[in-house]
Amino acid sequence: MKKIIIGFYIFLMPSFVNAAPTAEVLHWWTSGGEAKALQVLKDDFAKAGGVWKDMPVAGGGGDAAMQTLKARIVANDAPAAAQIKGPTIQEYDDEGVVAPYNVDAVAKKEGWDKLLSKQVASHMKCANGKSYCAAPVNIHRIDWFWANKKVLDSNGIKMPKSWAEFNNAADKLQAKGIIPLAHGSQPWQDATVFEAVALGVGGNSFYKKAFVDLDPGTLNGSTMVKVFDQMRKLKGYTDAGSPGRDWNVATGMVMEGKAAFQIMGDWAKGEFAAAGKKPNVDYMCSPTPSKNGYLYNVDSFIFYKNAGNDKVEGQKLLASLMMGKNFQRVFNEYKGSIPARLDVSMDTFDLCAKKSNADLKNAGKKGGLLPSFAHGMALRGAQKGAIQDVVTKHFNSDMSSKDAAKQLASAVKASL
Ligand code: GAL
Repeated sequence: MKKIIIGFYIFLMPSFVNAAPTAEVLHWWTSGGEAKALQVLKDDFAKAGGVWKDMPVAGGGGDAAMQTLKARIVANDAPAAAQIKGPTIQEYDDEGVVAPYNVDAVAKKEGWDKLLSKQVASHMKCANGKSYCAAPVNIHRIDWFWANKKVLDSNGIKMPKSWAEFNNAADKLQAKGIIPLAHGSQPWQDATVFEAVALGVGGNSFYKKAFVDLDPGTLNGSTMVKVFDQMRKLKGYTDAGSPGRDWNVATGMVMEGKAAFQIMGDWAKGEFAAAGKKPNVDYMCSPTPSKNGYLYNVDSFIFYKNAGNDKVEGQKLLASLMMGKNFQRVFNEYKGSIPARLDVSMDTFDLCAKKSNADLKNAGKKGGLLPSFAHGMALRGAQKGAIQDVVTKHFNSDMSSKDAAKQLASAVKASL
């Protein structure tokens, strides 16, 4: 009997030792809606036998998370996976710390090239576009107005179709003692509002020339001055408590009717959803004014070189789960975004998500589908940081629009 038991035990040992796929995951999804969405992935990973080591770094927009991540990489202590976006993915690949082989094998096996648009897929690839090194979980839209329906209705206000209409509505609300714009003046939130304004005031090709091509004449041109003028107007519609406020607290102000509008990416909808609020009943969503523009932001996870079979298996499992068809539906319903996978039905999504999906297609046809610079989709870190610094400095001082445009061009030049 003893022998049999010993034999049985020895037989089981190898798989025991190789043990469970393990992954330390660095992310900044700590708000109510974000945490609820991330839990779907944690649960899927656990159900598949994985061991999740959580590494949350609080702070909307991820600036704090990016600093922590950099320190970990410098200390040669990379997590298995980290929430990273856009050209920062390729930036890390240039440093030789990314592990393309793990996720690429999964991507080839599962046919990701067919499941994703070319644009989304290209953001996920390293080695000059040859190998997948990151997995996308969604597409967020940045250029949105969120509004409290009751506040709008009781003041006879409709969702604005132009920036002039917004300004009129805001003036009216302010005269009645209502905070027109819930905002948290943190650099990334100022930049979020700024890029939506730039898209609307300047148009699609202006946006591309300024924040994708970094054209000096556009950065320091008369249209940019107008963009900063509108930013100054918006500043006047915020309340005294705005500096430093977290984005989800600002969303809460709209939810509770303390403020009328917020300009924020559709992770704000994740907060409304987590609180049981419904679009067109409790709150309204509509794109900020532009001509078929759509600022996209793809959340994705990059995989770093990690030694150990359990970690490599953890990375493969994570990558596969992130691109799961059902996962992308459930996760995005909580997150406020739409699936990155093209074959997920939108039937069960709310009307804001359906609008996002339809507008994305339309913007793609009309040249308005553009990467968000504020959320790291358009530029590498140094250029993004240079622009964000000037935008937030202007918003939080009495700097003139002309000076701001001038500083924008010189800050970008110095960052190149
Ligand atoms: C964005 C990110 C979103 C959301 C937001 C606020 O950069 O893409 O998923 O989490 O920051 O934290």
